Amino acid sequence: MPPLSPQDEAKKVVGAAAVERYVRPGMLLGLGSGTTSRWFVRALGAAVASGLEVRGVATSRTTHDLAESLGIPLVGFDEFDRLDIAIDGCDQTDHAGNLIKGGGGSLLWERIVVDAADRYVVIADSGKLSDQLGAFPLPIEVVQHGWQSTTRSIQRLLHLHGFPSTIPLIRRTDTESAVITDSGNFIVDAHLHSIPDPLVLDRELSWIPGVVEHGLFTGLADEVLLAEPSGGLTVMSCHDTPAARRTTTLHGLRGSEA
Ligand code: 5RP
Repeated sequence: MPPLSPQDEAKKVVGAAAVERYVRPGMLLGLGSGTTSRWFVRALGAAVASGLEVRGVATSRTTHDLAESLGIPLVGFDEFDRLDIAIDGCDQTDHAGNLIKGGGGSLLWERIVVDAADRYVVIADSGKLSDQLGAFPLPIEVVQHGWQSTTRSIQRLLHLHGFPSTIPLIRRTDTESAVITDSGNFIVDAHLHSIPDPLVLDRELSWIPGVVEHGLFTGLADEVLLAEPSGGLTVMSCHDTPAARRTTTLHGLRGSEA
């Protein structure tokens, strides 16, 4: 296997660290999607192979298949009440843990799992942390029927929020054909560049008929665990006021916190 890029190495570190820091025997876990979550699921699979007893709920078919191949016991959406914790990646986070998600197209199942979880932890490499969300195009999952009309409604809402009416809203394609999500919908990516008020946009996008879900996950994360290029880890706690918000540097996976 070729050597990992520094970013992939960081994803691997944070995935393994999440198992160490958050997973305990007997837990029912939400298993995220995307390349960072894949490292988490691989590390979890190794722990299960060594005797750890946990069960997981997958946020995509891809994660389901990976977890199954690693021997992680899986539970369907109809088989649980609450999850102990959901652990998932993100495409962008701000300092309060507001997120852009859905780069991998799994946002709907991810959001359902987060809603069912008592705790939500986000894992990422530190390159995904920024002062303001929006550099990553915002994924919006829309039903196929009338998707052009839904896209025009999204455009109107964005214009009301001060974005130019020419903002690119691009239906996601995979080579030639439209990407279809695990729930059979399209994804439209909104190239907003910066989102000054993500909390309001989060709420109002959800009101548009035809929008199934979107990638603005605001006010949901409890902690964000970030891997630094140096190999270190930083934990951001998300619920305090900005002044009281803590950022902790870890000197070992579970080890002493400074
Ligand atoms: C999938 C997601 C992923 O968590 C997000 O796209 C990050 O992916 P990666 O870890 O590959 O950078 O939201 O819908």
